[in-house]
Amino acid sequence: VLPPGLLTAADYERLAPQFLDAGTLAYLNGGSGAEITLRDNLAAFARHRILPRLLRDCGGGSTALSLLGRPFHHPLLLAPVAFQQLAHPDGERATARAAAATDTGLVLSTLSSVTLEAVAAETPGEKWFQLYFQPDRAATADLVRRAEAAGYGALMVTLDTPVQPAGERATRAGFVMPASVRAANLTGYAPPPRRVLNAGGSLLFQGVMADAPGWKDLEWLLGLTRLPVVVKGVAHPDDAARMKALGVAGLVVSNHGGRALDGMPSALDLLPAIRCAVGADYPLLLDGGVRSGRDAFIALAMGANAVMIGRPQLHALAVAGALGVAHLLRLLRQELELCMALAGCATVYAIGPEALHSPQL
Ligand code: FNR
Repeated sequence: VLPPGLLTAADYERLAPQFLDAGTLAYLNGGSGAEITLRDNLAAFARHRILPRLLRDCGGGSTALSLLGRPFHHPLLLAPVAFQQLAHPDGERATARAAAATDTGLVLSTLSSVTLEAVAAETPGEKWFQLYFQPDRAATADLVRRAEAAGYGALMVTLDTPVQPAGERATRAGFVMPASVRAANLTGYAPPPRRVLNAGGSLLFQGVMADAPGWKDLEWLLGLTRLPVVVKGVAHPDDAARMKALGVAGLVVSNHGGRALDGMPSALDLLPAIRCAVGADYPLLLDGGVRSGRDAFIALAMGANAVMIGRPQLHALAVAGALGVAHLLRLLRQELELCMALAGCATVYAIGPEALHSPQL
């Protein structure tokens, strides 16, 4: 049974601290650095207003869309979020059940606390696998083969965190990963090679960054699989254009929910220039700060084809497991439908820049 009074994602966020210890909450909610980008992600949506059109025929409307040539019931996807057993003992299994129950596309993290095979068994619907390049190409290739065999329909390779900054909020709150929560997909792969540093060398550059992927690795991945490859974490229009030219099937405009480079612009502010760089028909997703159907509408109006939801799924998971996530997704979808109906947009394809109020006009 759900606790009373849960009407929005914000209600789940407000209740989540009752179900999580302070360290875990800080790890899940926090951003990198001074959390400038984390705050901007949320603030960006609040700056836009929607301009409704009257008397349009919306009777046959729906939120359905096609993405990478695959059918989706609505444009709200579950973002890849690591270690979901931190939020609930059922972890990604619960999220997968919620996705299946609500016809929601799911993107599973490389760092999931349940194996990709076990999650696939819970999700008959559309699911993609988020790939982190492993230091060892054989391990990366093995992850790709496993995702293909388990029925994942696309690979989403995340490139914005060649090094993962420690969250100050989590560090201050004394967060340590519990021994019971593991990267279930990675057991059995060799640990990263130990690097010998030059005299005066930096562990960051000669250690972690020496193993970080480059353009050659992206090209290698594109040649390795027949699955569509989507790149997550794109911020610069030139990177976006180069990826499109290489054969990348779509992009996620994202700053990793403010957990990558602090000081980056909000995801929403990055979106128009990237849409401009890749043209009208190229698949673009956005994540970072989407907390309502209205936010999703605004992202679509600014040029996204779909959005992904990060932290809210963790809040709902912590509060009520699979039922909570399914309920949250239903609420968000209903908010989007209501927003579309009131704005006079019968389909997601009808949501464009003209649906936003531009005070200068
Ligand atoms: C993430 N994110 C993430 N991204 C990714 O590609 N692989 C991953 O394993 C993770 N893990 C992860 C853990 C936690 C706790 C958070 C909060 C985020 C980033 C995620 O996919 C997404 O980009 C952001 O969460 C979107 O921002 P919002 O919706 O949280 O504001």
